[in-house]
Amino acid sequence: MQPLVDILKWFGVKASGWSVSVCLFLLFFSLLYWYSISPYSVLERCGIKHPKPSPFFGNLMMFRDGFFKAQSDLIKKYGRICGYYIGRRPIVIIADPDMLRQVMVKEFNKFPNRMTVRGMTKPMSDSLIMLKGEQWKRVRSILTPTFSAAKMKEMVLLINMATETLVRNLKSHAESGNSFNIHKCFGCFTMDVIASVAFGTQVDSQNNPDDPFVNHASKFFAFTFFKPIMIFFMAFPFLLKPLAGLLPNKSRDEMNSFFIKCIQKMIKQRDDLPPEQRRRDFLQLMLDVRASNKYLSLEHFDVVNDADEQACTEQGMDNGQENGPGNESTKRSQQKRMMTEDEIVGQSFIFLLAGYETSSNTLAFTCYLLALHPECQKKLQEEVDEFFSRHETADYTNVQELKYLDMVICESLRLYPPAFRFARDVDQDTVVNGQLLPKGSSLEIAAGFLHYDPEHWTEPEKFIPERFTPEAKASRHPFVYLPFGAGPRSCVGMRLAQLEIKMALLHIFRRFNMMACEDTEVPLELKSHTTLGPKNGILVNITKRENFEDES
Ligand code: HEM
Repeated sequence: MQPLVDILKWFGVKASGWSVSVCLFLLFFSLLYWYSISPYSVLERCGIKHPKPSPFFGNLMMFRDGFFKAQSDLIKKYGRICGYYIGRRPIVIIADPDMLRQVMVKEFNKFPNRMTVRGMTKPMSDSLIMLKGEQWKRVRSILTPTFSAAKMKEMVLLINMATETLVRNLKSHAESGNSFNIHKCFGCFTMDVIASVAFGTQVDSQNNPDDPFVNHASKFFAFTFFKPIMIFFMAFPFLLKPLAGLLPNKSRDEMNSFFIKCIQKMIKQRDDLPPEQRRRDFLQLMLDVRASNKYLSLEHFDVVNDADEQACTEQGMDNGQENGPGNESTKRSQQKRMMTEDEIVGQSFIFLLAGYETSSNTLAFTCYLLALHPECQKKLQEEVDEFFSRHETADYTNVQELKYLDMVICESLRLYPPAFRFARDVDQDTVVNGQLLPKGSSLEIAAGFLHYDPEHWTEPEKFIPERFTPEAKASRHPFVYLPFGAGPRSCVGMRLAQLEIKMALLHIFRRFNMMACEDTEVPLELKSHTTLGPKNGILVNITKRENFEDES
């Protein structure tokens, strides 16, 4: 401290070492306090109402019990455009369907990216969910055709293998007569499907929960924001990059390297095989389009609205043709459109992360709702029986005939949307529908709130599949129902999810009755720190249907 005291002396200020220490201490804490509250004027400056943030952490603690209910509570209190702070980051919640149409579709070019997550490592950082700008556009344009209806047909065989195991396991539960956690069964089923279609790996997690693939995947899903280290980095995000290299994260590193090695091994095996012997799955589809000159433009990215289908058919992408020579899109550099091996690993990884919990939760919620609504279950079983009186087996084309099944799934996704909030970044101060959205904030699309909005749904708490007849859908604002998002950044895996969900339910309700029992939690306790899911699983009873003759 003496040098500082000496410097002060040169300026004619006499101070003791003790008083200089006190001053420095006060200065440090004043600066720290200023740092801790300095970002919290951004939302107010734009007229966006929000709860009072706490220094460093903003409103993080509001979400200790999850985001689902808290999101609705915020909107009810502060309006359809309101906000909060996560750490230092301002979040603008949007629950106005017209504004959402503007952000997600009409002015998409101003909001093409999701939330920036600092400290992201490979393979996650290479995945479609995280990619930004031109790199995202290139990868999405290559991937979209691999999810076309025609390509889905090739996945049916692989999905059926997992469905058979699921049905066999459910049969033993039906025979035991005991209640069981059907959510767990669906977790294993969707894990088997994704491992098979995205990693080219046959795992039987339904009967072998200690499979290394399953073990490593479960590490990712154990992630939580509410660890002390995560909270610290939210308060001091600029420290994340320099410290990330110093702080070991064994579990994450092990998981990443397991999946990277797994895909690299597969790619090598595939490249060594003659084309006719290669398994037809997403991994192979991605490898086939690695150096493709097939290109879809932005306006054809929207899988939810089938905008991709017409382009795929017209451009012959469904049957392996290349673009015509005169096509504008082929003038783009072929080199630019290739996917690197790292990017292929990134996409397989995200298919697992984005497709596992979302699909298994949807299956479990749908069974729960059907167990509580036997009249709807009976109607569904009648449709399924009628279907099998006409078809020997189910495939991608004929399952589209099951209109009531589709309505049941849509209504289940309304009541329990696994992805009930998703984001867009604001890169520049932008005015949308008269509202200033501040640079550096993230927009939160409030699907969870909109799905229960009494302005658009009568008796929103009730399970009524008939809300999804073509007439009812046409009479509603399309942006009040967003289970798979909307616009060019919408869920690329929607058709795969719908296919595996329909295949599983079709085979289950052909063979079994689903019943609520005394162990069934009504109402369900939900968890919503990441996806919306049942907190304590879903316990039900099943019995074999009398009129079904089992062939096995
Ligand atoms: C019921 C199951 C599913 C639901 C409810 C769901 C929902 C969503 C939602 C809401 C989004 C964000 C959309 C937006 O920002 O507008 C999304 C994105 C995405 N989903 Fe899904 N998803 C499901 C299954 C799947 C599956 C099975 C896969 C892959 C195999 C998948 C892959 C993706 C990917 C890669 C993205 C990011 C797309 C991009 O940024 O371009 N999803 N999903």
